Amino acid sequence: MLPLLVANWKMHKTKADALAFIDELRRLWPDRPGCEGAIAPPFTALDAVGGALRGTAIALAAQNVHWEEEGAFTGEVAARFLADLGCRYVIVGHSERRSQWGETDEQIARKLQTVLAHGMAPVWCIGESLREREAGRVLEVVGRQLAAGLGAVTPARMPPGRRGPELPLVIAYEPVWAIGTGRIAEPKQVQEVHAAVRQWLRDRLGGAADGVRLLYGGSVTPENVAAMAAQPDVNGALVGGASLDAKQFVLLAQRIARGGASS
Ligand code: PGA
Repeated sequence: MLPLLVANWKMHKTKADALAFIDELRRLWPDRPGCEGAIAPPFTALDAVGGALRGTAIALAAQNVHWEEEGAFTGEVAARFLADLGCRYVIVGHSERRSQWGETDEQIARKLQTVLAHGMAPVWCIGESLREREAGRVLEVVGRQLAAGLGAVTPARMPPGRRGPELPLVIAYEPVWAIGTGRIAEPKQVQEVHAAVRQWLRDRLGGAADGVRLLYGGSVTPENVAAMAAQPDVNGALVGGASLDAKQFVLLAQRIARGGASS
């Protein structure tokens, strides 16, 4: 399975900053990276970045979406607008959206469904808080988050013709305490959670579960990514801070490709 590296730029970069990054990335990105790359800029730079990525193998991604088709939802962006700009991926349920905007598992399920219905692949974020980890509740929390959304992502809902080996569904395990803190989870701990997620998916989706890419996210850097990517159930990374620099992004991709190859 081709690993995936997603840059989550969060609320960083003007349009000019974004275009300068893509310009540099186009020069540095290897012909055969061994890893798929995707960039999730802020909405204001989405169209410009999509245009600048045209003709490259690097995908366009969005950071959020609304579940309704259109209507009186001031400040929100519909899935079909994202599809119209050429987005291949949409990040759904990031912990910053859950904690700062009160996004619920139910809203996240509706977003997953909308993204799939518009032919894009959700990058569905799950993960526990520090308190939940310390209480030994990691698998329970992650299982609850998955259960709430899984009705939306049955194989029957995957757009025909785009199935396997990579299904149009990506799950990013991001322990909340590791995001933006410089405190990365141990690769072995991450593998344990990913293996449980994979098993959980197999029990519900059967063999299709093996086509779901499981990313790790939270304080990933070029220095720590290879050990993570070498874990058998880690199929790439969702990266915030270290994805803001084009050279670092390319290094991340190269090391993920190598880590994945050695597993
Ligand atoms: P970070 O963010 O890499 O800056 O920790 C990851 C994320 O929030 O997706």
